[in-house]
Amino acid sequence: MKKILITGAAGFIGSALCRYIRKHKLAHIVGLDNMGYAASREALSSLGHDQHFKLIEADIGDSEHLQSILASEQPDGLMHLAAETHVDRSIDNPEIFLKTNIMGTFTLLEAVRHYLPTLNDPQRHGFRFLHVSTDEVYGSLGATGQFVETMAYAPNSPYAASKASSDHLVRAWHTTYGLPTVMSNCSNNYGPFQFPEKLIPLMITKAQRGEPLPLFGQGLNVRDWLFVEDHAEALYLIFTRGRLGEKYNVGGGSEIRNIDLLDQLCQLLDEALPTSAHRPHKNLIRHVADRPGHDERYAMNFSKLNQELGWHPKTSLPDGLRQTVTWYLTHKSWCDTIHQRYSGERLGNVLPLTRK
Ligand code: NAD
Ligand code: TYD
Repeated sequence: MKKILITGAAGFIGSALCRYIRKHKLAHIVGLDNMGYAASREALSSLGHDQHFKLIEADIGDSEHLQSILASEQPDGLMHLAAETHVDRSIDNPEIFLKTNIMGTFTLLEAVRHYLPTLNDPQRHGFRFLHVSTDEVYGSLGATGQFVETMAYAPNSPYAASKASSDHLVRAWHTTYGLPTVMSNCSNNYGPFQFPEKLIPLMITKAQRGEPLPLFGQGLNVRDWLFVEDHAEALYLIFTRGRLGEKYNVGGGSEIRNIDLLDQLCQLLDEALPTSAHRPHKNLIRHVADRPGHDERYAMNFSKLNQELGWHPKTSLPDGLRQTVTWYLTHKSWCDTIHQRYSGERLGNVLPLTRK
C-alpha cells in the first residue's frame, strides 16, 4: 500500500480526508499539521489505534523539518491542505495568510523538488502532489453563470489572494521544474469538526446558546455548499487519477442564499430541540454590517471532474445539514472546548478606507 503525506491533516477537511482514506484502507498516511487554532486531535481520534496512520507536528514553513520528514517517511505522494482558511481573519490579519499560504506552499514545493531526485525510478515516476484550493480565487459571480477551470483569477479577499498566489506557484513548479502536480478548487464545505468561525457551525453553536445569529448585510449572498465527506472522495480521486498539470473544480451543486440557509438551519434546530427556550431559533437572526469586499455569489461547474473521473456529490444539502446539526448537538463538549478559545465574536469588521 502506498504512503501519502497529508498537510493540514488535523484540520476540518484534512481530518475528513484521513478518515476517508483509512476507512477504505486506500493508503498509509503520515499527517502533518502545526496544530494551530483550527486543528483538532479529536477529529483524528478514531485513527488513534490505526497502525497505518501517524500525525507529525510540523510547520510547512520549516524547510529543514520538511526535508527530514520526507527523507525519513519516504512518501509516494503528497496532498496539500494546510492553510490559513478564514476570510474574516484574513481581513484582520493578512500577514499570516501570506506567510502560510504563499511562503508555506513555496517551501513545500521546494522540499518536494529536492526530495524527488532521491527516489528510485518507479517511486519518482509514480509520485503525485495534489494542491487543494478554493473557488474564491475566481472572484465573485453575478446572478448567473458558474466558475469554470479556464476562468481568469480575480480574488477579492486577502485569503483568496493568498490561495490564488499559491495556485500560481504550483502551476509554475509544474511547468518549470516538471513537478507532478494536480490541483483542485472547491466550493464551501460543511460537516463535522468544522471550526465554529465559519457560517454553518458558528450559527448552530450560537443558536444552541440562544445568542444572536449575525447575518452579514441583507443575507442575499449565495454559496454552493459541499458536504465534506463528498469532498474527501473527490480529493482522493483527483489525487490518484486526475491528469497532471490540470485543475479540477469540485462543487456541491447546492446553491443557496445565506438567509435561506439560516432559515433551514433554524428549522432543523427547532425540530431537534423541541423544548428549547430559544425556539423559534429564526427570531435570533440579526442583520449586521456587511463583510468588506463580500463576494456576492459562488457557483461551481464541476462537469470536468464528472466527465473525466465520474464524480458527483452524493449528499443533498437538506441531508447534509441535518447530519451536521445532529453532529454539533451531540458533540457539545468539543464545541465547549473550542468556545473557551474562540467565543464567536465578530471578525473582519474593518471600515473600508474609501467608499465605493
Ligand atoms: P482548517 O482551517 O480547518 O484546517 C487547516 C489546517 O492547516 C489546520 O489544522 C491548521 O493547523 C493547519 N495549518 C495551518 N497553518 C499551517 C502551517 N504553517 N503548517 C502546518 N499546518 C498548518 O481548513 P479546512 O477547511 O480544512 O481547509 C483545508 C484546505 O481546503 C485549505 O487549503 C483551504 O484553503 C481549502 N478549502 C477549504 C474550503 C472550506 O470550505 N473549508 C473551501 C475551499 C478550499
Ligand atoms: P464563511 O463560512 O466565512 O465562508 P466564505 O466566506 O469562505 O464563503 O461565510 C459563508 C457566507 O456566510 C459568506 O457569504 C459570509 C456569510 N457569513 C455571515 O453572514 N455571518 C457570519 O457570521 C459569517 C462567519 C459568515
